[in-house]
Amino acid sequence: MNPIQIAIDGPASAGKSTIAKILASDLNFVYVDTGAMYRAITLAAFQAGVDPNDESGVTALLPDLTITFQPGEPVQRVFLNGQEVTEEIRSVEVTANVSAVSSYAAVREAMTALQRDIASENGVVMDGRDIGTTVLPNAQVKIFLIASVAERAQRRFKENQAKGMDTSLAELEAAIEKRDYLDSHREISPLKKADDAVELDTTGLSIDGVVDAVKAIIAEKTQN
Ligand code: DC
Repeated sequence: MNPIQIAIDGPASAGKSTIAKILASDLNFVYVDTGAMYRAITLAAFQAGVDPNDESGVTALLPDLTITFQPGEPVQRVFLNGQEVTEEIRSVEVTANVSAVSSYAAVREAMTALQRDIASENGVVMDGRDIGTTVLPNAQVKIFLIASVAERAQRRFKENQAKGMDTSLAELEAAIEKRDYLDSHREISPLKKADDAVELDTTGLSIDGVVDAVKAIIAEKTQN
């Protein structure tokens, strides 16, 4: 039997990674944070002095990049060519440029292949933008998580505060709206709910509430 695939898609800061990580741990599946992969490539561009808006420059970096994960608390650890980049990939600079990098055909092709490879060998909970539509179209469970822009900005604000990062709520709202627009209007594999995905609005819900709701959907979809 093929390993179980659980696809969790949705816009920035809708709670995908928090929920996906808890589910993977409870189900003993591998958690795959695909956004972290696109972020790692964006960081690699900065490190190499390549402008993230230079598609051919970014594409030329791909053959020499290795992205790997290790379990970690409170977040999964991410490595770029063996160097830990868990924190750097969340910088404001990387966040502001990742939508451009993730729109390039060669980047998407390479990452989709890597993601499918991981899912062919393990039960996975994979979060991203195009998992249910493109990467794992046959996933047994597809969830599309959404939340209001105000709530998503508020969550990001609190996360940043906990890390000692000073950000303005208005700027976070604007950045989230911009990323939503870019991610859902790009040409290749835009952010989109798969026809057979279950949409879940997490506005006002606790983490436990969302996890319970998603577990109920998983139980229903994997019953047979
Ligand atoms: O989930 P995140 O915010 O870490 O994702 C960072 C960016 O990567 C997001 O703005 C769009 C892109 N992305 C994508 O294009 N496809 C995915 N499967 C995951 C993320």
